[in-house]
Amino acid sequence: MTKAANGKTNTRNASAGNGALAHPEQLRGATRTARIALIGCGYWGPKVIRAAASLPEVEIAALVDRELALASQVQRHFPAARTTTSLSEALADETIDAVIVATNPATHVELAVEALEAGKHVLVEKPLALSAADCRSLGEQAREAGLALMVGHTFRFSPAVQHVRELLDNRELGQVYYIDSQRLNLGRVRSDVDAIWNFGPHDISIIQHWFDARPVAVHCHAYDYLQPGIPDLAFIVLEYDFAVAHIQLSWLSPNKVRRMTVAGSRKMVVYDDVAGQLAIHDAGIDREHLGRSFGEFQSFGEFRLIQRSGDMHVPRLPHVEPLQAQCRHFLECIFSGNEPLTNFEDAAGVVEILEAASASRANDGARVELGELAGV
Ligand SMILES: NC(=O)c1ccc[n+]([C@@H]2O[C@H](COP(=O)([O-])OP(=O)(O)OC[C@H]3O[C@@H](n4cnc5c(N)ncnc54)[C@H](O)[C@@H]3O)[C@@H](O)[C@H]2O)c1
Repeated sequence: MTKAANGKTNTRNASAGNGALAHPEQLRGATRTARIALIGCGYWGPKVIRAAASLPEVEIAALVDRELALASQVQRHFPAARTTTSLSEALADETIDAVIVATNPATHVELAVEALEAGKHVLVEKPLALSAADCRSLGEQAREAGLALMVGHTFRFSPAVQHVRELLDNRELGQVYYIDSQRLNLGRVRSDVDAIWNFGPHDISIIQHWFDARPVAVHCHAYDYLQPGIPDLAFIVLEYDFAVAHIQLSWLSPNKVRRMTVAGSRKMVVYDDVAGQLAIHDAGIDREHLGRSFGEFQSFGEFRLIQRSGDMHVPRLPHVEPLQAQCRHFLECIFSGNEPLTNFEDAAGVVEILEAASASRANDGARVELGELAGV
């Protein structure tokens, strides 16, 4: 067993001894090359495969989409890759080590199961599945087979997100009061998932990483202006027993906004992903004891609230493309046998919150306790 950076216990290495896990040496000999198939050549798949292909250890072996023309378009950049419309056909190539699934979320489980059954390591785009129970059953399958199963919670690989986690670990922000997160844009309007399931995995995976805790309850109000029954605007509240997080998601905003604020008693942080900036404000409201003797107090515990608006610090962070770092981590897990940081448990934690948000939304924003959900 190994301890992951987040302090959680990894078990994948423990199963490496059962012979099922493809060790580095088994992957294309001593050169440590991984041959990868991509399924899903729509909007996001080509971006992921470009990031994967920028790593010297990667060979793009196959490009799969049920619309062959989309796979052929991507093939122009990777002429050595074969194109096909079905994963089964691609998996017939035994030299393929791993599959990246970048299809519509409703297809993730079926395709990941097929790839794992064929003995391939799998990176699945977010959300891993549409239920936490499915995330866990996929995870069990991967563990039994000794294969890497990772979910594409891309922002977990952002240096800014990691820096905020360090600030929180070191208690530099003091007591954390709340997180406020906005992820807004004009489109891309989807019809297979709503804005909650499309954008929400990003904010929730970041907040879960920062707080390293499970919310007690979820409230969600959501509105469908564009397509009946498919919310394009959502306001989600996650109640933790020590703080609160608010998330606003929208496909109907004139501006692209990806901004998260963490308000602590000592410092406040604003992470603006669009501007590429993390700002740490020495700001807050302090309680100053008025210094009177006990007899002079008008009321018990008399204090003055003083505004503190000090310097702003912008830390120098490494220039890392999160998507490339995500692909690199996937490779490292394949080669080392380590459990991915964004493993099925991480994915299930995100998906159970999305399920609770949908349940709340269906019940006019009612408070849904996570324990109330079946299978949670
Ligand atoms: N990490 C991120 O920042 C990020 C950003 C955007 C999208 N995504 C995720 O990427 C995934 C794909 O999103 P998208 O925007 O590219 O969607 P998309 O609709 O543009 O593309 C999906 C593609 O998958 C193909 N497909 C679906 N089912 C298939 C099957 N069974 N066999 C073969 N091909 C199949 C479709 O033909 C389509 O071309 C989603 O899970 C989405 O949440 C992640």
